[in-house]
Amino acid sequence: MSDPSADLESAICNCVRDFYEAARIDALLGPVFAGSVKNWDKHLSTMDDFWITALLGLERYRSAPFPPHLKLAMSQQHFDRWRDLWVASATRTLPEPLRGRAISMGKSMAHCWGEAYTTMTGQTAVV
Ligand code: HEM
Repeated sequence: MSDPSADLESAICNCVRDFYEAARIDALLGPVFAGSVKNWDKHLSTMDDFWITALLGLERYRSAPFPPHLKLAMSQQHFDRWRDLWVASATRTLPEPLRGRAISMGKSMAHCWGEAYTTMTGQTAVV
């Protein structure tokens, strides 16, 4: 019999890869990732850990996820696009009830982080 927790972890890793396949070629997000991520294997593995911790409560990611974003040149639009791509990837790859949790968590993080980012960097939305 398969291990349900390992199955969920591997679904999350698939979701992260599905998201980055779209994000890396996205006109808005792609250049930000290309300009900052030097080691993709390491970045994907950090993102796996982050989402496994967020969605399954397992202790994998032990850092502070928001501060690295402050050095990136972004606007609220980037967080909105990030949310849309994340929702699409979660919808494609995750089983319920994980899918619903990933979607609502991603939406609220994109909203909160977008507000925190624009407040802390003084950026205004690019229309
Ligand atoms: C609320 C939505 C987001 C979440 C939950 C999220 C999550 C994360 C996490 C967990 C990390 C790893 C931080 C670490 O090194 O420990 C990270 C890094 C990164 N994120 Fe995000 N992110 C979000 C939005 C965005 C957006 C909109 C962009 C724009 C393209 C972005 C670009 C990056 C980049 C380039 C890095 C690597 C930074 C570096 O180490 O040089 N993220 N993100």
